[in-house]
Amino acid sequence: MTTQFIGKENFTIHTQTVSESCPSNIALIKYWGKYEHQIPANPSISYTLNHCKTNTTMEFLADEPFSVQTFLSGNEEVKFAEKIEKYFKNIEQYLPWILKGKYIIRTENTFPHSSGIASSASGFGAIAKCLMALDEAFTGKTSEEESLRKASFLARLGSGSACRSLYNGLIVWGATEEVQGSSDLFAVPYPDTEIHEVFKSFNDWVLLIHEGQKSVSSTVGHSLMKTNPYAERRFQEARENFVPMKEILKSGDMESFIKLVEHEALTLHAMMMMSDPAFILMKTGTLEVINKIWDFRRDTGLPLFFTLDAGANVHLLFPADASEESIKTFIEAELLQHTQKNGVVKDVMRF
Ligand code: DP6
Repeated sequence: MTTQFIGKENFTIHTQTVSESCPSNIALIKYWGKYEHQIPANPSISYTLNHCKTNTTMEFLADEPFSVQTFLSGNEEVKFAEKIEKYFKNIEQYLPWILKGKYIIRTENTFPHSSGIASSASGFGAIAKCLMALDEAFTGKTSEEESLRKASFLARLGSGSACRSLYNGLIVWGATEEVQGSSDLFAVPYPDTEIHEVFKSFNDWVLLIHEGQKSVSSTVGHSLMKTNPYAERRFQEARENFVPMKEILKSGDMESFIKLVEHEALTLHAMMMMSDPAFILMKTGTLEVINKIWDFRRDTGLPLFFTLDAGANVHLLFPADASEESIKTFIEAELLQHTQKNGVVKDVMRF
C-alpha cells in the first residue's frame, strides 16, 4: 500500500516496519533545569550504558488516520501512546510526513523497568532512530553523521537526556566553550583523543535500593528549578565544572574525577531538597550505601565511587582495571544487603 504525499518535496510514503535499539546513559555533570523548547540550562556530560538498551519496532501504516498504539513488553501502554502522539505532533515541522499514518510501536528494555535506569533516554533515543529510518525510506538516504545528529535533535525534544544516548562513550549535550561543536540542540561525542585510557573502560553497577514509583518526576523536578533560589548558581557551577572535567579526562586524574562526579550527584539531590515544595528521592538505603562507599575508599584507597540519577538507586562506578575484583567482592559482601531483593544491574562501558 502506498500513499502520495505532496509536501515541500514530492515523495512517496509506504507502509513500513523498522527496528532500532538504543542504550541509556548516566550523567556525570548533570542536566537539571531547562528553558522553553528543551533547551538545557547548563551543559551536561554522560557515559552511555552499553548494555542497558531499549529495543523498538515501529510499524507505520500509511493510508490510516494518524494514531499511535504502544506496547511495552507485549502489554498495551495507553498513557505512553498519548505521550508519543503529542511528541509526534510537536516534531511535525522537522518530519513533514509524520502525521500521515498509524503507528504500532513495540518496545522492550533489556533492564528492569524499576531499576531507575533512564528508560525515557533509551526509549526516546530508539524512537528517534526509528523515525530517521522511516525518513530515510521515504525521502532518501542522508549521511550517517547527519542522520545521527538529527536523531539526537529529535530525541532531545522527547526527553532531554535522550539526545546523549545516540552515541557511545562520553557524550556532551549543551553549548560549552570547553567542547568544540557542542550545542544546546543535540549531543556530540566528547573527543576520543582527549580522553585518558582509564576512562574508556568503566563499570557501572546499579544498586536497586527502591523499586517503587518515584514521588516526583524528572519533568516536575526540572520545572521546580524555575523558582529554586540556588538555580542560577547551580547552572553557573555546572558550566564551570567543565573546565576541571576537561583536564581530568585528559590527565586520568581519578581522585579529582571521583570528587567532581560525587559532588555533581549530591548537588542534584541538594537542589531537590531546596525546591519549593521540597522533595527527597534518596532513601535510607541510599545514604547507607554512600557512607559505606566513603568508608571503603578511606580504608582501601580503591577507586569505587557513586553517582545518582533522579531517584534512590545508586550507580556504583569503578574502572575496569586491576582493582575491580576487590571492589566487586566488597560490593557483593557489603552493599547488596541494602538493595531490594538483592537487585543489581551490571554494565561495563567500553569504547
Ligand atoms: C537527573 O531527561 O529525564 O537524569 O527532559 O524532562 O525528559 P526531561 O528530563 P530527563 O532528565 C534527566 C535528569 C537527570 C540528569 C541527567 O541525565 O543529566
